Amino acid sequence: MYDGGKIITGLILFVLLVTFPIWYNHGNAGAVPKVELPKVAKECVLPASEMRTSHMQLLNEWRDKVLRTGDRSFDVKIGDKEYQKSLMNTCMQCHISKKKFCDKCHSYASVKPYCWDCHVAPVE
Ligand code: HEC
Ligand code: HEC
Ligand code: HEC
Repeated sequence: MYDGGKIITGLILFVLLVTFPIWYNHGNAGAVPKVELPKVAKECVLPASEMRTSHMQLLNEWRDKVLRTGDRSFDVKIGDKEYQKSLMNTCMQCHISKKKFCDKCHSYASVKPYCWDCHVAPVE
């Protein structure tokens, strides 16, 4: 004797199990990785949303300015601390782990900034 109901239930379960990875990840697959945020400060040099999209331009501007004019001043104060236009002395003072911060996003986005050929990342 066969039981149609059981076979159908079995089939549905089978399909659900096989496709589990697909629907389980749905809406999650595109999520940006979680990066380690600084403990020393609560804010970045610009609003985080702006930093997320434009930190590359900011770094480029800083570099051009420093190399062309030698002017390192940067008129953003966080708390009572003044920062300068510098990858090492500014960004990496707060974002102390290149691996857990910069690299995490970059591997996800498949970008490999060549900056570290010359600039030294903080020791971890
Ligand atoms: C004073 C400490 C400090 C400095 C200096 C600093 N940051 Fe940040 N940064 C933070 C903090 C804190 C956050 C999280 C802010 C928030 O979530 O509102 C952040 C957020 C970010 C984010 C967004 C991360 C995310 O997805 O939430 C990026 C990208 C970033 N910073 C890059 C940089 C770069 C590049 C520099 C140098 C140009 C820099 N930061 C300098 C403290 C700093
Ligand atoms: C929230 C994710 C995220 C974080 C955190 C992050 N980046 Fe990026 N970064 C990106 C993305 C995405 C791109 C590629 C953007 C594009 O191609 O338009 C990028 C590109 C860059 C570029 C340009 C590289 C190129 O080849 O065009 C530089 C330089 C850079 N990031 C520096 C840094 C530094 C330094 C840190 C750590 C202090 C950092 N980023 C942290 C997401 C991030
Ligand atoms: C070929 C070596 C080299 C590479 C690659 C390089 N830089 Fe530089 N960068 C330098 C030198 C040298 C200076 C001048 C250092 C100084 O005057 O303190 C400098 C200065 C800077 C400055 C301003 C001064 C400071 O203390 O940070 C920034 C910002 C900067 N670079 C960002 C970047 C970024 C972002 C990348 C990658 C997209 C990059 N650089 C790639 C060599 C390099």
